[in-house]
Amino acid sequence: MPSDVIYMDNQSTTRVDPRVVEAMLPYFTEQYGNAGSVSHPFGWEAQEAVERATASIAASIGASPKEIVFTSGATESNNLAIRGVAERANRGGNHLVSLATEHKAVLDVLARLGRRDYEITLLPVASRESEVPGLVTADDVAAAIRDDTILVSVMLANNEIGVIQPLAEIGHLCKERGVLLHCDAAQAVGKIPVDVNALQVDLLSFSGHKVYGPRGIGALYVRRKRPHVRLDPQIVGGGQQGGLRSGTLDVPAIVGLAKAAKVCLEEMPAEMTRLAELRDRLFAGLTRELTEVTLNGPPLDAVADDGLPRRLPGNLNTSFAYVDGEALMMSMGALAVSSGSACTSANPEPSHVLRALGMSEDEVRSSLRFGLGRFNTEAEVDAAIEMVAEAVVRLRKMSSLAP
Ligand SMILES: Cc1ncc(COP(=O)(O)O)c(C=O)c1O
Repeated sequence: MPSDVIYMDNQSTTRVDPRVVEAMLPYFTEQYGNAGSVSHPFGWEAQEAVERATASIAASIGASPKEIVFTSGATESNNLAIRGVAERANRGGNHLVSLATEHKAVLDVLARLGRRDYEITLLPVASRESEVPGLVTADDVAAAIRDDTILVSVMLANNEIGVIQPLAEIGHLCKERGVLLHCDAAQAVGKIPVDVNALQVDLLSFSGHKVYGPRGIGALYVRRKRPHVRLDPQIVGGGQQGGLRSGTLDVPAIVGLAKAAKVCLEEMPAEMTRLAELRDRLFAGLTRELTEVTLNGPPLDAVADDGLPRRLPGNLNTSFAYVDGEALMMSMGALAVSSGSACTSANPEPSHVLRALGMSEDEVRSSLRFGLGRFNTEAEVDAAIEMVAEAVVRLRKMSSLAP
């Protein structure tokens, strides 16, 4: 990749931190044993590395090591959590509740269950006219829970508009009502504080490549006490990980995920402030240089009752009137951003998240998502402002719609 391209698509994926690569390397070439080999030192070393990494990952979200199941990423974790609960519940009920703005890795799983014997309720979120667009309240969730509800699934931070949902309140409610709560925390773990007990979640998905760790590794937290959550495995075979997810453990990736989580945790307070400042600088610059720039999602300074931000610090999503977001992206060869969600770019439909805020198709099509991350600098933000402003002005001149 040319080094003069500025990467601002960190909600899509992140560059692996060199400290993570360094931690992983020995497990490819020297300590390459199978963690399941119990009869020789190669296996023992691998097993010990997995145990150390698991303990560290578990501690980073307030869980215990036995509650961590390694998967290939948040998509697989979401599949295991939702289908695992649904298929296990059998006669216990068949109703699941979630949000219209979830990632496709939740929505598609639910849609497939909906074509079987399950009933799905997808809650709308606060519209763009509201104080915190994209938000759902615990009351909204409470109203949707029925006697036959077996699972509520609510994401912590949205990948497109960065809205952070009131999970602790939803968790409290689900406990009261005796319904399991799953949380897709792929965009939250490593970025904002996540504690499974404070949030009162029973299942929580996360992923290595969103936190400067490797791709192809993720985990699902599965609560073991009050209640002991039971899942039907989705991948069966050798019986690894207590039978919940068979397959030889990817030791280097697990070590990498642990290192990535540790670095995120150590740097989180300073990084949250730094990214929010960069993001605010970016938006201020864009609105200074251009007219008719709209912020999509929560206000940048929105704060929840617990004092934490209502929006992911590194996330900015804006619409540029009279401009097509795809055309804008394509005309800026030296800036890597995304229109809608890159995770679903195989599907070119306008973003379902922005549509759920009540935006028109044209407004959605004129939007860009900027994802700022660990390696972005102030100088890059200033260069991005200049590039976007220049491209928007040029495209507006060519547009028959622009005044
Ligand atoms: C909120 C959310 N959930 C799930 C995923 C899927 O994660 P993974 O790529 O690790 O499967 C992503 C990103 O792609 C995401 O942003």
